[in-house]
This record gives sequence, structure tokens and C-alpha cells, in this order.
Amino acid sequence: MSVPVLRVEGLSVEFPASGGRGLFKPKTTFKALSEISLSLVAGEALGLIGESGSGKTTLGKAIVGLVPTSQGRIEVAGTELDVQKDADRSALACQVQMVFQDPFSSLHPRKTVGNTLSEPFRIQKTVESSAQPGKVAALLQRVGLDPAHAARYPQHFSGGQRQRIAIARAIANQPSVLVADEPVSALDVSVQAQILNLLDELKAQENMAMLFISHDLSVVRHLCQRIAVMYLGRIVEIGPAKAMAASPVHPYTAALMSAVPRVKARNKAMSKPIVLKGDVPSHAAIPSGCPFHTRCWLYAKKGQPERCRSEVPDLVGVGADRQSACFFPQEADPSAAGA
Ligand SMILES: Nc1ncnc2c1ncn2[C@@H]1O[C@H](COP(=O)(O)OP(=O)(O)OP(=O)(O)O)[C@@H](O)[C@H]1O
Ligand SMILES: [Mg+2]
Repeated sequence: MSVPVLRVEGLSVEFPASGGRGLFKPKTTFKALSEISLSLVAGEALGLIGESGSGKTTLGKAIVGLVPTSQGRIEVAGTELDVQKDADRSALACQVQMVFQDPFSSLHPRKTVGNTLSEPFRIQKTVESSAQPGKVAALLQRVGLDPAHAARYPQHFSGGQRQRIAIARAIANQPSVLVADEPVSALDVSVQAQILNLLDELKAQENMAMLFISHDLSVVRHLCQRIAVMYLGRIVEIGPAKAMAASPVHPYTAALMSAVPRVKARNKAMSKPIVLKGDVPSHAAIPSGCPFHTRCWLYAKKGQPERCRSEVPDLVGVGADRQSACFFPQEADPSAAGA
């Protein structure tokens, strides 16, 4: 297997807990990410899924150095980069870029598109100023926009066009990793497929690795070779997309997959959606033992084993290329368990 372009090991992020900032109150924090480890090889897309608040955006931001980490390491092409160091931060900005959900707030309203797109060249000193207009024109063409539009301001563009500009800015210095955080969820349905196709094409042309964050499992299955499932700041299952849809080894993955129409149609055992009880617990009150046990259908089915309440399951290998954090990995597949 090739050397990963991105390797994240034991990455944790802590945020201040609300209510902990008063004069006499102790300053407390909560773990938004707990010891995340994953790697990406060139040209592959890893889909990151999980309910709202599970930590997907925080992981993306931690990888590009936008939120401080409390633990762990980030390696790009085999070299550890420490975002606290200026030189490393600059190397990280060249090699790892992020596209955000909302292209209306991610572009500076008073900068022309040309100015926005030449910024990566100026900041990273990768292209001389005389060559920048030509490079900007080429970038606009790459993302399907008219090079003559470099003189315009963001307000003259539609949402889809703005996202194309944001993508152009992200790929300006040919990063090896692109984090795309729900890149189409703020756009009109009619343009979503075009932007997804553009990302897929650019990934292939540039041989970039992509971390693709989305709520839309059908899109993730279409675009990504592997999937990582997050729950309360942890990865609970990671593996090949097809295998995870066909036979999930974590009960949370099974529940998410059972809600996808196409997966249901192919897998008889998933024809009934698995409905999870209650809401995701707050980060301030993460359940003891397996964080998922309070909502787990398998825990209920197995007679509420003590182990699930008292021990945190590690993410461990389950067959080739597949890891799961469940004590009963062979039984989470509804087709095996007959759920
Ligand atoms: N800057 C911050 N300060 C404090 N808490 C934060 C901050 N950013 C995120 N959080 C909290 O961290 C947790 C994870 O948030 P995050 O935005 O990463 O989730 P997400 O999986 O991207 O959710 P969504 O699907 O809604 O985008 C949430 O509880 C959120 O409220
Ligand atoms: Mg998010």
C-alpha cells in the first residue's frame, strides 16, 4: 500500500464547556474529538459521516490547523507538522486545504475574485506577481468559470459559482489533501451534482486525497472509496464504503445505513429502518462505557451487557481494512442478527 499523504494519530480537541467560565466556577472543558486516528492515500476519498455535533467539522478544522489540538499528531506525506510552528503551518496550508459549507460567508465580499484567488500565491510565495493573473485565469477555467470574471466581486455570483471560486482558491497551490465540509448542502439542489462532479474530477486529475464530510450517505457512497462513521467525537467504524453498506459491523453504522433507500433496496435485512432512541447525548454528559450504548439497538437486544456500560470499546481491526469500536462486531449486521 502506498505511503499515506495524510496520517492523523490520536488526535483530540477540547473546547471550553459552557457554564465553566464564571468567576468562581472551575474552568472545564469537553472533548469534542477523542483520539482520532485515520489515514488517506493519494487519490482516495474518505467520507466522514455521523449525526450533527459528532465532531466532523472539528476534525476537518483540526486537520487544516484551524482549531488547536490537545493531543495527537498530524503527518503529511510522512512528515509530522506542528501547527504551533510558523514554518509547519505554512507547509500545512500548502498541502492541506478546506472547502466550507457556505460559500456566501467563506469569500471576502470586498475582494475581487482575482484578488481572492491570487492570495494563496502571495501568502505562500509560490507564484511571482507577474505570473499571477495568468494563473488566476487558468484556475477559473479549471473550475468551469470565465477567466474574465476575475475582476468581479462575490455578490455577482450564484451560490454554485461561489463554491467553484472557493474550490479554486483551495486548489491554487495544488494541495495533496482537500477537506470538503458539506460542500453542497447550502446550494440549490439543481447545482449540487455539478459541484460534486467537479470535486470528483479535480480529485482524479490532481491525484488529491479528499476527506468528504456529508450528511448525505447516498452521495458519500457514490464519491468515496472508504467511510468513517463518527459518534460523540470518536470514530466508531471505518472501512471500505461498499462493504460498510452491505454489512456494517457497528450498530450505529447499521442504523445510519438502514435509512438509505438504495441500501435498503439491496439488503433485505435492512428493509426496516433501525430507529435510534432519543437524541445524541451532550458532550458534557457522555455515557459511561460505550458512548453509544444508551441508544444502541444491539445492547437492548443482547440483554444490556454490563461490559457495554462499563468499558469503552477500542477501535479494533475486524477483517482486512475494517475497524470497529463495538464488543460484538459480528452481530451488528442486521442480516446476521436478524434485526
Ligand atoms: N469553537 C467551538 N467552541 C466550543 N464548542 C464547539 C466549537 N466548535 C464546535 N463545538 C462543539 O463541538 C461539537 C462538535 O461540533 P462539530 O461542528 O464538529 O460537529 P459536526 O459533526 O460538524 O456537526 P454538523 O453535522 O451539525 O455540522 C459540538 O458539540 C459543537 O457544539
Ligand atoms: Mg459540521
